[in-house]
Amino acid sequence: MQLTGKNINMRTVTLEDAEFIYLMRQNQNKTKYLSKVTGTVESQKEWIKNYKEKEKEQKEFYFVIESKSEEKLGLVRVYDFQDDSFCWGSWLIKEDAPKTTAIESALQIYEFGFYNLGFKKSHFDVRKGNNKVIAFHQRFGAKIIHENELDYFFNFEKSDYVKIKEKYKRYL
Ligand SMILES: CC(C)(COP(=O)(O)OP(=O)(O)OC[C@H]1O[C@@H](n2cnc3c(N)ncnc32)[C@H](O)[C@@H]1OP(=O)(O)O)[C@@H](O)C(=O)NCCC(=O)NCCS
Repeated sequence: MQLTGKNINMRTVTLEDAEFIYLMRQNQNKTKYLSKVTGTVESQKEWIKNYKEKEKEQKEFYFVIESKSEEKLGLVRVYDFQDDSFCWGSWLIKEDAPKTTAIESALQIYEFGFYNLGFKKSHFDVRKGNNKVIAFHQRFGAKIIHENELDYFFNFEKSDYVKIKEKYKRYL
């Protein structure tokens, strides 16, 4: 499965990405607000094998974000499909990736979720304190609908996306 963006492509992960994922998830300052991944490159491979079964059943999609020259730039995951809403997260981009990678990958996720998969809404949670990411989602028009001690819970409607898409069309 591959999604084609303007300056990036996003393709579903394979076993060969185990080391990349492992190294990305080991990066201490980038993973402060993500759940801890323990283990080794080998256990990452096991995790991917397990994931690949879910991908076959179209229950989950885990993407490597790449440049057009196939340089790996980051990761992002679509999962927890409910009636009319999909969740996305595990979003992680390399420090030295081109500046538009974040916006482009978010747009590709919404294109995929709303048009390819046909959902009407998207939901995701962001750790309190992860202010840059909270601001990113708010600029897109996502709304905080709930919170607990640890997280803000966001909702983003397809109708909001249709509106914002016009503003971001240069990134599509
Ligand atoms: C989350 C993550 C992938 C976002 O990527 P990022 O590159 O940090 O995203 P940014 O918000 O800095 O956006 C990139 C650029 O686009 C700009 N931008 C972002 N949203 C924009 C918008 N709506 N309109 C215009 N420009 C925008 C930003 O200003 C930034 O440019 P700048 O560096 O000149 O300020 C990255 O920070 C990361 O890997 N974080 C660690 C893991 C994590 O917390 N993941 C999220 C868990 S919910």
